[in-house]
Amino acid sequence: MADAYPSTPVDVGSIATKHRTICSAIPHPDSVEVVETLRRAEPLCMEGQPPIVWERAEGTSIYDGYGNRWIDFTSGVLITNAGHAPGAVVDAVVTAARAPLLTSYCFPHRLRAELTTMLQRCAPRDDDKVMLLSTGSEAIELALKLCREHHRTEHPGRRAVFVTFDNAFHGRTLGSQQAGGIPGLKQWIGYRDDHFAQVPYPDPVRGAPKYLRFDAFVGHLRDQGVAPEDVCGVMTETYQGGDSCFAPVDYMQSLRRWCDEYGIVLVMDEVQAGFGRTGRFWGFEHYGIEADLIVCGKGISGSLPLSAVIGRRALMDQFPPGSMTSTHSGNPLCCAAAIESLKIILDDELTERAARVGRIMQDAAHHIAERFSDCIAARQGRGMVASLLCVSSASGEPDPKLAWEVVGRAVQTGVMLFAPVGYGGSSVKISPPLTIDEEALREGMEVVEEAFAHVLAQRKGTMTSA
Ligand SMILES: Cc1ncc(COP(=O)(O)O)c(C=O)c1O
Repeated sequence: MADAYPSTPVDVGSIATKHRTICSAIPHPDSVEVVETLRRAEPLCMEGQPPIVWERAEGTSIYDGYGNRWIDFTSGVLITNAGHAPGAVVDAVVTAARAPLLTSYCFPHRLRAELTTMLQRCAPRDDDKVMLLSTGSEAIELALKLCREHHRTEHPGRRAVFVTFDNAFHGRTLGSQQAGGIPGLKQWIGYRDDHFAQVPYPDPVRGAPKYLRFDAFVGHLRDQGVAPEDVCGVMTETYQGGDSCFAPVDYMQSLRRWCDEYGIVLVMDEVQAGFGRTGRFWGFEHYGIEADLIVCGKGISGSLPLSAVIGRRALMDQFPPGSMTSTHSGNPLCCAAAIESLKIILDDELTERAARVGRIMQDAAHHIAERFSDCIAARQGRGMVASLLCVSSASGEPDPKLAWEVVGRAVQTGVMLFAPVGYGGSSVKISPPLTIDEEALREGMEVVEEAFAHVLAQRKGTMTSA
């Protein structure tokens, strides 16, 4: 659904629990001016989210400035794995700011040394290297560049095709969008670059069963005239973000073997999946494989803009000093935040927690999907990420309006969700911080269930009275 949520306040009555407070119409009438100011100042594309003015976000709660409090089921957008604004992160950022050291470009600083060393310890191989950047898309662009350069030297003169999957999302810059597999998002590019190829994702819900087998991958490349020697890299999201869809394990293991056989770089986009979100530190651990390059972002700092490419030394060292840099690479404040956030994830065993507490969430999501099985086609996800795909009970086609209304209702009743994503914009995605209290999680899932019940009852009422 490409519509903006209306900024008109809706009165749903007051709610006061240990984890939620709704004490006014939502959004609070006095906050609407901020929403409207933004709508006047920013392009239309920024109007996608429910119009709640975030004043403060702490732990797993989000507050407006008027006494309303939400259980956070967004983590921003899968950013705050260690919760919003943990004290240690805030203190470290303030200390770095007060040093003061707000930037150092690519001049060395202690925090960058500390963070890259920590990330090296989390990497698949001891001698992997780490390049810090600012956004997920920027890191994707770098991975693409590393693959192409590697191929240029290994197979001089051959076409270098970067292979990705249908329905994939890797960001919104030119390269990351060319690598993406959602046609509607790339119409603006205006041409097709045959140095990018997409193959069907082995999606058990949307895809044909034959695509679940790895020979479909090979067959599709062959049909597109792409020989293995033409492939400079294969990249996939560890799970496809929109619908939280994981690939079959044997498929991913075959892909790994195929890349090894032809010396092709395998890139895992862990921008969403990394840092414990799925119940494994790296999501690709579910597949029992290693990535040659890991692209990460979001949960790396849990807050400030930071991303990274982590990977094999030989790939990372291809460019000489000064030729692969970024102005804000490893900004001191971002590094300070990431160091403390990573310490929390590791010391508090948040990955293990995501696996354990995530089961409660997955069970509750499963229950919702069963209860409304005629209009929820699938529940997918692992650990602390789940998606509920809404479909029309009549046609079985995606029902973005239902998803959009469910999100709207949940937000009005104290659970923060971001606007629907995924197949046809019809997935309600649930992704709380990994620190969420079990009671708050259960309560939030009940709110989501009630939101489905409410929206469907309203629809029924409208149909009956019509
Ligand atoms: C899997 C994946 N890759 C890449 C990106 C792009 O990251 P960013 O928005 O930080 O550029 C995203 C963002 O949602 C993502 O989910």
